[in-house]
Amino acid sequence: MPPPPLRGRFSIVFGLTRRASLLWLLVSGGGSLLLIGALVTAPWSISIVASAVLLTVADAIAESFRVALPTSRAGNRVENSVGAAIAIAAVLLLPLQWAVLTVSVGIVLGRRTAWYKSAFNGGQAAISATLGGLLWHLGNQAATLTDLHAAPFVIAASLVYATANILFVSGIVALASGLPMRVGLTRGYRHTWPATVGVVFVGVLIAVLWSISAWTVALAAIPLTALYYTLRNTVSLETNTVDALFQLADILDARDAYTHGHSLRVGQYAEKLALSLGIPGDDAHLIFLAGRLHDIGKCAIRNEVLLKPGALNDEEREHMCIHPAVGGSMLESFSLFKECARYVRGHHERWDGNGYPDKLSGEAIPLGARIIAVADAFDAMTTTRPYRKALPVAEAHRRLEEGAGTQWDPKIIKAFLKLLETTPLGQHQPVALPVQTPSAAAAA
Ligand SMILES: [Fe+2]
Repeated sequence: MPPPPLRGRFSIVFGLTRRASLLWLLVSGGGSLLLIGALVTAPWSISIVASAVLLTVADAIAESFRVALPTSRAGNRVENSVGAAIAIAAVLLLPLQWAVLTVSVGIVLGRRTAWYKSAFNGGQAAISATLGGLLWHLGNQAATLTDLHAAPFVIAASLVYATANILFVSGIVALASGLPMRVGLTRGYRHTWPATVGVVFVGVLIAVLWSISAWTVALAAIPLTALYYTLRNTVSLETNTVDALFQLADILDARDAYTHGHSLRVGQYAEKLALSLGIPGDDAHLIFLAGRLHDIGKCAIRNEVLLKPGALNDEEREHMCIHPAVGGSMLESFSLFKECARYVRGHHERWDGNGYPDKLSGEAIPLGARIIAVADAFDAMTTTRPYRKALPVAEAHRRLEEGAGTQWDPKIIKAFLKLLETTPLGQHQPVALPVQTPSAAAAA
């Protein structure tokens, strides 16, 4: 049965999806209105303006010390900076209008990016500062910041600002990428949340120091710098490992022009499929990583076998079949990929037990491996290979349906075919390559 027509491919502004565009308009427009309102109603006094200018400059400087959180997908960058500490101090120290202006102008000056990204950043900062500031000014009845009774409101306002900030940025990335927000949050903050919480509370510390004596604020530069380096080192440890392995996977794909981009697509399809099966974001991310690296064991395959245009003989086929076990062993040595190693090892197992390397069958095959097997087969079918042109999605749909219960887990095939109804998979631009015939069906 051919899949019904695809839905859900819309673009309004800047190549964003329809829902991401709506969020952009809402946040940029709403933030602009708040900024105009703040400018019109702001109380003017030399000391307030001087404090606001100083905090704006400090915020802009701190915003320039930023770290891209681990995203593992191009175009989904979420950046964390120590600027949130200065922004929180501004929310606690300044009148609401000046806090909104300071935080918004500080982030725009510090990040200096494309105007439409600046508009979103400035807008979300204005809204977040308004939310945190309203809670602080309306809720706190204590006289000063250092009063014990003010503590719950200090903490609540700081957390509201930081949470709103994170949710706005993660929200637009989620809507733009089509992945649930929990996936982005898991990826970005799994290892960096302690440093992020640290930045929030250094913001409180700066506000308290400022209220005691302005010069003491300089002392906060030390923990803030330490947090920046902690954040940077945590992120680079993870991203360097992931990047190195992704590069290796891409180099292996590039050895054969027909598999260019294959690993990336398999990772993306496998992740979408995992999410559609209700697998939590953290596990779906592991399945993405395993899909991205599923053929990494091909580094052990001799070129004359991997790139052979004709049919493989028995010895060559046996040699090719070592790649899942080699890939699994390679990944086992990385703590980040320990779970992925099982999925990579099992990606050529079959539901009926006739696969390799362990001849597992049914649910004895790890779920991640069963998901990757379907994504791998679909991408192999819908891309041009030396021996045939890319198959239409409808034909791939038919073949997958045919292999349900023998080659693949029927429940996963059912979920994948349902996913195809709403998600444009297999629609990438195929590499323009000549088709050679006849040739061999090499292991995908
Ligand atoms: Fe493979």
